[in-house]
Amino acid sequence: MALPREHWASRTSFIMAAVGSAIGLGNVWRFPYVAYANGGGAFLIPYFFALFTCGIPLLMVEYMMGKRARGGAPQAFEAVRPFMSWAGWLACIFAFVITTYYCCIMAWSWDYVWYSFKLSWSADASVFFNEQVLNKSIGVGTLGAIQSHILIGLILTWLAILAILWKGIGAVGKVVMVTVPLPVLCLVILAIRGLTLPGAAAGMTYYLQPDFAKLADARVWLAAYGQILFSLSLGMGILQAYASYLPKDADISNNAFMTGLTNCGFSFFAGFAVFSALGFLAYLEGVPVADVVKAGPDLAFVTYPTIISQLPFWASFFGVVFFIMLLTLGIDSAFSLVESFATSIKDATGMRHTKVVLWLCIIGAVMGIIYTTRGGLYWLDIVDKYASDYGLVTIALAECIVIGWIFGASKFRKEINDTSEIRIGFWWDVCIKFLTPAILIFILVKSIITNILEPYGDYPLWANVLGGWGMVGLLIIVSILLGIKYNCRRVE
Ligand code: PFF
Repeated sequence: MALPREHWASRTSFIMAAVGSAIGLGNVWRFPYVAYANGGGAFLIPYFFALFTCGIPLLMVEYMMGKRARGGAPQAFEAVRPFMSWAGWLACIFAFVITTYYCCIMAWSWDYVWYSFKLSWSADASVFFNEQVLNKSIGVGTLGAIQSHILIGLILTWLAILAILWKGIGAVGKVVMVTVPLPVLCLVILAIRGLTLPGAAAGMTYYLQPDFAKLADARVWLAAYGQILFSLSLGMGILQAYASYLPKDADISNNAFMTGLTNCGFSFFAGFAVFSALGFLAYLEGVPVADVVKAGPDLAFVTYPTIISQLPFWASFFGVVFFIMLLTLGIDSAFSLVESFATSIKDATGMRHTKVVLWLCIIGAVMGIIYTTRGGLYWLDIVDKYASDYGLVTIALAECIVIGWIFGASKFRKEINDTSEIRIGFWWDVCIKFLTPAILIFILVKSIITNILEPYGDYPLWANVLGGWGMVGLLIIVSILLGIKYNCRRVE
């Protein structure tokens, strides 16, 4: 006999888990840079506009879809419209592929916690990262040997995910009570340290000085929407899976507002820690802040370590705090990405939770080995580019079409309002039916055209075809096959 579905122990556990999924590496190394490059302080206008017109409305869609279907993303799509489960499978598989490289970035962070004790990167953090840690090969065509120190970090990360997910959603609810506040505490420590360094004011000016002229540029608005989707972990099937463990009378709209605002507040604050430190580096090197601004792995593993070495006291301590922050930021995003797939498989097949989680962790760890090789970073970069350009946007668009047009926005809004603390009005219908899908179509078409006209990065065409188009195509085929196999089937 099937067991009754698990529930979150409390509303707080659910909100913390959703916030934990949203707040990830992207908040620290993506948001501040995107903000700076798209108008500084003025970027907050399109950013908050995107939050209220796309981010929060889509959070409500995903929460409600999961809650009403009491199943993962495929079941949630299927419950709205038969034969749509493939869209949910696509979301979960994309999430899983993202986890495989996300965990590799966390593997570097484990190593850097260790390196921080001795400030092992010495005078040149760039040489250390590229030549010693990654031991980068000459190009994408040369994979080279597995780097054992990265592999150890990868295994530790997957063991942590396995341990956290093993006991089910109840245990997740407890873990997030630690993994959400801890990086916030680390960030506060780093922001205080950063803001009290010389040059911090110049860094902050760079970050926040508004350039209102940028608001006339459509690309700035698109960047805001892209950042919101990515940051709130939308279109990955995560929130449907998490919401499927909510009780029937759970609130939707207020939970969505709380999650969205907390995540964006954290991102904004992260900019203080990042840009004050960049200001300090610029001050030391006697160059403008623009010359030291970086994003992505370069910011975390080259620029930040360089800054840490220059700190007047307790450099190792701040190094450890920074990399523990990255680890705790990443872990709840990583396990939410796995839980998305795990919940869907469990709901479709009736397999035991522990068995599904164990297999996913083994497969994920094995798939991640490619990123631990000397050519791993190149592949990570390509897969990340295509997965985040196409995955989230396509699924979010499918959600708008299925809910806004096929099911009916106002009918769905009524369902949301029936159990919610904040009643949402007609504006929500406009966002889900017109505004958000129009912008998503624009983003999607623009990405397709750009990527066809010009292969991504400096990589050869074959690498783009294999790691980019091929990967996206394969995931679409697999999700359609899964949709056919498990159509309309759900084991309670
Ligand atoms: N929202 C998290 C972050 O910003 O890091 C986790 C995440 C979700 C990463 C979805 C990547 C992604 F495509």
